[in-house]
Amino acid sequence: MTEKVLVARQLPDKFIQQIEQFSEVDVWNSELEPMPREEFLKRSKDATIVITTLSEKIDETFFESAPKIKGVVNLAVGFDNIDIELAHNKGVVVTNTPEVLTETTAELGFTLMLTAARRIVEAVEYVENGEWKSWGPYLLAGKDVHGSTVGIYGMGAIGEAFARRLKGFNCKVLYHNRSKKEDAEKQLNVEYRTMDQLLEESDFVVCTAPLTPETKGIFNKETFKKMKDSAILINVGRGGHVVESDLIEAIEQKEILGAALDVVENEPISMDHPFLKMDQVIVVPHIGSSSINTRDNMVQLCVDNAKHIIEGNAPVTPVKK
Ligand code: DGY
Repeated sequence: MTEKVLVARQLPDKFIQQIEQFSEVDVWNSELEPMPREEFLKRSKDATIVITTLSEKIDETFFESAPKIKGVVNLAVGFDNIDIELAHNKGVVVTNTPEVLTETTAELGFTLMLTAARRIVEAVEYVENGEWKSWGPYLLAGKDVHGSTVGIYGMGAIGEAFARRLKGFNCKVLYHNRSKKEDAEKQLNVEYRTMDQLLEESDFVVCTAPLTPETKGIFNKETFKKMKDSAILINVGRGGHVVESDLIEAIEQKEILGAALDVVENEPISMDHPFLKMDQVIVVPHIGSSSINTRDNMVQLCVDNAKHIIEGNAPVTPVKK
């Protein structure tokens, strides 16, 4: 076989065996440790496909190191690790994993919202630290989700899946998106707002948007000032959406109540990051789409995309120009 698929993270054998049916395969030997950059570039030299994660930056240096590359197959729906324009200019196909992770990611966002609203992390620590002495009228009293106003920033598939879940909680659902989504408005009873209106009216602000130059740093000093002082920010988008020093200040100044984050600017978070000392901030390690079933579906989609590209067929889920 003349083709080689380089897989930048260890994946279950059942998937590697499928790749072996149509190509040579070179798999990095760790699931949790990303391939060092030099190693990745070295092993990309004779690769026709790379299966990447968000840890692999696909830029000019990569393309210089990978003269035979035909496809970059990203194990994520987001692709902010890839210079898409450059890839397309070089005639390299890029694929991602949309749809298969929508519901699972919305579910994690919803879990974060309930967890932050009802102070679940603090409550578990309270019990584990032996502080539970009696029932108290306002012991760890939190914030209701039911009947609240929730503002969704980014009404793509994940935003819509989030809105569907809110219906059962009798919430008023607002959204802001770069374009109005009339179908979603009709089907999900969601109302469009300008960004300022969304911030001013929402009890929970949920970021489900992709990271682009336009959305980078959208949650900052100015936007936090417009939010309710009782509001909680939920982020299942990208760490880059939030200016973290501004978030810390906004919480300390009581401009907003708190935040629940699946993503942070620099992942993994450093152990001395102020978020980790703040009761009002919950951080989980970028597990939005991490159910076994969904991760299997994402990996399978990557294998299918790699196969299609190698066989000269249109990929299943290309990132369009
Ligand atoms: C995605 O799919 O973009 C996630 O953030 C990574 O799993």
